[in-house]
Amino acid sequence: MTHIHIKNLHVAYGSHTVIEGLDLEIPDGGIVAILGPSGCGKTTLLKSLNRLLDLHEDVTVRGSVLIDGEDIYAPGSDLLALRKKVGFVAQRPFPLPMSIHDNVAFGARLHELPTVADRAATSGTVERHLRRAGLWEEVKHRLDAPAKGLSIGQQQRLSLARALAVEPEVILADEPTSALDPLSVRIVEAQFRALRQDYTVLLVTHILRQARRLADYVIFLYDGHLVEHGPAETFFNAPVDPRTQAYLHGEIS
Ligand SMILES: Nc1ncnc2c1ncn2[C@@H]1O[C@H](COP(=O)(O)OP(=O)(O)OP(=O)(O)O)[C@@H](O)[C@H]1O
Ligand SMILES: [Mg+2]
Repeated sequence: MTHIHIKNLHVAYGSHTVIEGLDLEIPDGGIVAILGPSGCGKTTLLKSLNRLLDLHEDVTVRGSVLIDGEDIYAPGSDLLALRKKVGFVAQRPFPLPMSIHDNVAFGARLHELPTVADRAATSGTVERHLRRAGLWEEVKHRLDAPAKGLSIGQQQRLSLARALAVEPEVILADEPTSALDPLSVRIVEAQFRALRQDYTVLLVTHILRQARRLADYVIFLYDGHLVEHGPAETFFNAPVDPRTQAYLHGEIS
């Protein structure tokens, strides 16, 4: 299992500091929910863990994020290896303009387009990842159809399959069910639950009930600070900080 250790992390957009001196060791394996009011820095924290923040202009990151002991922000650190190890599932699905099959094969080839000759080699892999994402039964007869034709719930599972196809060790998921209908939410949650055996899943959610259903461990952020973190049972049943208590009582959202 991959070990993540965040040390004195500061993140600022321009002159606006949004994460201030965050120290945290993330438990290996299982589902770690990241909770907190809107704007508190959940997405920023998630993106700091595979350097997706690099894509923003004018962002400053200080401190370190050690993944298996190596600082991902150290000069010369291997970005491609990092992105392979730490996958990202976004809030909204973004199918690539290609077939269902090729969307997943694209992940497996790590961002290279599959060729026709690859098809025999990739189809077993594609099936395996579509199964893991809970989508196989619905698409097995139309693998060559454009991915854009899938429902949003199916597209979100396709995004998950594509992320899994890279064979990451850690999955970062930013409110992965927020665009979905209740049935799709249940299906996607079931897949995350199944993944918790083999992966560390960091799940940002603003749905408390979802965190209660899924989380093994909870991180609570407030205004860029880590206020409280611990095993889900302790966090929900015996929160210590008044801000956590207020959040859990629905007094701040
Ligand atoms: N690209 C950006 N440029 C400037 N400011 C940003 C940028 N992205 C986020 N911010 C600001 O940083 C703060 C933290 O944002 P972030 O998206 O991490 O919060 P969040 O907890 O994910 O919120 P939400 O629950 O609404 O998704 C907010 O004040 C936000 O406005
Ligand atoms: Mg967010």
